[in-house]
Amino acid sequence: MLSMLRVKYFQFLEHWHQDGFLSACCFTLYHQDEEVPVVKDLTVLPPMKDPEDGLVFIEVTPESFSPQTIKYPLRSRQERVELYFQKGYRGLAMVRDGKAVGDLWYVCREIARTPELHPDLLRFKIDLADKEVYMFDMHVGAEQRGGGLATFLLSSALHHLNDRGYQKAFGYYSAKNIPALWVHRLLGYQELPHLIMRRFFLYRTAQIKD
Ligand SMILES: CC(C)(COP(=O)(O)OP(=O)(O)OC[C@H]1O[C@@H](n2cnc3c(N)ncnc32)[C@H](O)[C@@H]1OP(=O)(O)O)[C@@H](O)C(=O)NCCC(=O)NCCS
Repeated sequence: MLSMLRVKYFQFLEHWHQDGFLSACCFTLYHQDEEVPVVKDLTVLPPMKDPEDGLVFIEVTPESFSPQTIKYPLRSRQERVELYFQKGYRGLAMVRDGKAVGDLWYVCREIARTPELHPDLLRFKIDLADKEVYMFDMHVGAEQRGGGLATFLLSSALHHLNDRGYQKAFGYYSAKNIPALWVHRLLGYQELPHLIMRRFFLYRTAQIKD
């Protein structure tokens, strides 16, 4: 619980820094969003582009990670690494000169350490089977955005997971997040029924959109 509150605290500071104090307070206390759960068949993947020079794709595990070797662009993302390892989640990241310029996380039945696997799955009513993964928290550093890095990151992640034997990947994005919508569409994800999510501080409700 304490590590989660630390992550929320740094998210609040980052939001404040970017959009102002009032916006950060409002977002922390109440947020409403149209969520678009999506699914991708990993046996049918578009070919991958070549990586840019100096960009390395890695899996982030408790065995491979140390804060000295991989720096995340935001404090909230650095802080959540240990929290996510405790839950059994694994990270995938594009690293340049020791900095994670883009990263995302995934969970599946075999590695999860909580019975619910991930709280999003309850909300979306997704029951992960063997060989299926849930991917979440994709992030590209603000100064790196708009150059196609997200497509490369997500595509590399899908190929990596398919190479490991996974056949289906679930995820979600916010309907108003246009770059996220495009990156999923370009990679051939299928949309599932949309949800209207309401969050009151840490408590969430969700209902299928009419
Ligand atoms: C969502 C996020 C990862 C996208 O990263 P990005 O670097 O801005 O996205 P990209 O430049 O790689 O764009 C993705 C693709 O969508 C396309 N695209 C983006 N906006 C588009 C638009 N309005 N119309 C058509 N295509 C568009 C891009 O051309 C690119 O395709 P390409 O690789 O074939 O050129 C990034 O904005 C981010 O980290 N946001 C904060 C965290 C977040 O919202 N995460 C979402 C989790 S699902």
